[in-house]
Amino acid sequence: MNKTPLPPGSLGLPIVGETISFLRDRHFATKRHRRYGPIFKTHLLNRPTVVMMGPEANRFILSSHMEHFSWREGWPATFKILLGRSLFLMEGEEHRRNRKLLMPAFHGPALAHYFATIDQICREAIDRWVEQGETHFWGEVKQMTFAIASTLLLGSEPGAETAALSQEFQTLTAGLFAVPLDLPWTTFGKAVRARDRILAHLEQAILARQGNPTQDALGLLVQTEDEEGDRLSMEELQAQALLMLFAGHETTTAMLTFLMMALAQHPEVGDRARGEQMALAQQGPLDMAQLKAMPYLDQVLKEVERCYPPVAGGFRGVVKPFEFNGYHIPAGWQVLYRIDGTHQLDTYYSHPEQFNPDRFNPDHPESKPGDFRLVGFGGGPRICLGLAFAQMEMKIFAAHVLRQTRWRLAPGQDLSLSQIPTLHPRSGLQVIWE
Ligand code: HEM
Repeated sequence: MNKTPLPPGSLGLPIVGETISFLRDRHFATKRHRRYGPIFKTHLLNRPTVVMMGPEANRFILSSHMEHFSWREGWPATFKILLGRSLFLMEGEEHRRNRKLLMPAFHGPALAHYFATIDQICREAIDRWVEQGETHFWGEVKQMTFAIASTLLLGSEPGAETAALSQEFQTLTAGLFAVPLDLPWTTFGKAVRARDRILAHLEQAILARQGNPTQDALGLLVQTEDEEGDRLSMEELQAQALLMLFAGHETTTAMLTFLMMALAQHPEVGDRARGEQMALAQQGPLDMAQLKAMPYLDQVLKEVERCYPPVAGGFRGVVKPFEFNGYHIPAGWQVLYRIDGTHQLDTYYSHPEQFNPDRFNPDHPESKPGDFRLVGFGGGPRICLGLAFAQMEMKIFAAHVLRQTRWRLAPGQDLSLSQIPTLHPRSGLQVIWE
């Protein structure tokens, strides 16, 4: 019998536990953190749960004690059904092998190869919006990031086919947060059917590349081999490609939306970021080398990641019991690590409610890379696979929008935050180009 106590907190009502307050109240975790500290118990989505928050908790889950946790056991049933055997839901050796095979498509030389496509799609979108005068930014930028993901991954030409595929993904995303009842008219049932159509589309794209290798990311994935000379199977390729398309555009869309909002709300930050771009523009057109020479934009993007992390946290299943901060957590429970809550702790960030990119100046005491206080992309060995890709895409977009345009926010819009399906201002951000 283990003598170490369970963490403080409440398991709430029978069956539903505290799920309703968790879904309704954005400050659910922060309020309890104030009362109980960096670990507390609750009952969410039909399982006893501990919520953990803060750099030490993040390091424990994401890096030093990873073997106690299962990704697959952590995600709700909807994710397992809709995202299939993709990297998100793999463990151990299978995960290691797949991650290694996917890595080259999202790092190093492959990124340089993607530059021209991202650059062109961003410039065309910005020109079109400026001409229209006013833009529903969240909706428009989602189409832009999807066009980038599908062009680079599938080599598809932006147009009717991309728009149809983008629509299928919106249906799929809605199903991730729905009741898992698979009937033709339910949100989840529609998502399952959208997934099947996406998989069929991907199968055709993969077969075409197996016959005739191409330079897009899917072409690279089809050809890539592990140490034994084995390649990804059709099922693995389909699942991974679906995950890349899904993971790669909703999150980037959210961060770009909040970047536009924050720059408009803080003109002094916008002016400094624009000044940095104008100085670079004098040296020549945007290229890969320039992307590495934008320290202030890097700080701004980190502050957007801190204030508005698109992914609020991550679930894990506890597969081996563990102790943290003097409390015992049994196997079979689930753990939720909070990204958004960590980013708002005033022990690590002074006046966390203020938007202040200077806190990420390398000389500032709050800028501590690698200490798990900034975890918008997760951390440790399973840090976001698309991190370098997403950062490149966001910097290319930001550089062009700052060099070519000025904008303000349409008055009277509702900028309060909604988390479902992904974080966004309720108005969708109405932007007026000047
Ligand atoms: C701003 C953009 C993005 C954000 C904020 C973001 C955020 C995250 C976070 C927080 C995790 C870890 C979740 C956890 O620990 O439970 C993650 C994992 C992952 N992300 Fe991203 N992501 C972004 C863009 C992308 C892109 C562009 C891709 C694909 C091209 C991608 C693919 C993945 C994959 C495959 C994983 C799982 C990695 C593994 O388990 O080894 N993400 N992402």
